[in-house]
Amino acid sequence: MNLQVEVGGLKLKNPVMTASGTFGFGREYGEYIDLNQLGAIVVKGLTVKPKEGNPPPRVYETPFGMLNSVGLQNPGVDAFIEKELPFLRDYDVAVIVNIAGETIEEFVYMAKKLDIDGVDGIEINVSCPNVKKGGMAFGINPDDIFNITKEVKKVTQKTVIVKLTPNVTDIGVCAKAAEDGGADAVSLINTIAGMAINIDTRTPVFKNMIAGLSGPAIKPIALRMVYEAARAVKIPVIGMGGISSFKDALEFMIAGAKAVAIGTCNFVNPNCTIEVIEGIKQYMVLNNIEDINEIIGSLKVD
Ligand SMILES: Cc1cc2nc3c(=O)[nH]c(=O)nc-3n(C[C@H](O)[C@H](O)[C@H](O)COP(=O)(O)O)c2cc1C
Repeated sequence: MNLQVEVGGLKLKNPVMTASGTFGFGREYGEYIDLNQLGAIVVKGLTVKPKEGNPPPRVYETPFGMLNSVGLQNPGVDAFIEKELPFLRDYDVAVIVNIAGETIEEFVYMAKKLDIDGVDGIEINVSCPNVKKGGMAFGINPDDIFNITKEVKKVTQKTVIVKLTPNVTDIGVCAKAAEDGGADAVSLINTIAGMAINIDTRTPVFKNMIAGLSGPAIKPIALRMVYEAARAVKIPVIGMGGISSFKDALEFMIAGAKAVAIGTCNFVNPNCTIEVIEGIKQYMVLNNIEDINEIIGSLKVD
């Protein structure tokens, strides 16, 4: 049975990866699951300098999901290369590094630094809703998506993935801007902008007011957007948003996703990625499917 998929030039042993920011740099989860079994590990978003992130509270549970306002807390690109990458290099798993610049120059600076052994792909994060500069402000503007992608592509040999925000009217236009800028793939969706209010104090739960919604609650929206993006571009689409089971993952693949990423579910079930891989295998056996690629974009429409 073939589970291998290709995303840009990157060959993944299976289509299941982790979603940035929900799996740290892999260390903690390495105690629970065999990281070698994953299609790829997408690490927490990095910035040029270490970032403390937003003041608490940073997470808030909602029906079938969660709001987060972590604000890209991370040790910075240099500390990642020095302290985290050597750990990941010991595993036989593709490593995709999520980068979150505040300017085009910062994206280029980090992409250049990360054009090194042990890094397989760069995920350009133009979709974080929890930072004041950069992030979603870029991702809602197709011209910015195009320009950042184009400049990053100039300085790296790695597979370049552009992570899109769902907080737009037409996801197809944004996906196309990434493709036109030279992206090897797009990934979506990042979190959906939401908010919560404390009725006792009548104050916003989050200091930033707006936070990002993730988890099963967003799955139907994510699926629709992945379907739309896959129709708008020829490059591979990586689908995510609320995936909690192999059935969810298959829905995204049938809608056109070449690979899928699992985020919030890792917090509930650290073994979720592995269970999804096993479930996909069983589905293939039961349905006499020899190659996973037969499933991708196989949605039947009258
Ligand atoms: C706590 C938390 C932190 C996140 N941090 C990042 C990040 O650093 N970079 C990024 O591109 N996306 C980040 N995301 C978004 C996820 O990668 C993913 O796109 C989103 O949560 C939808 O998938 P899910 O419903 O499976 O979690 C974060 C999500 C959560 C819940």
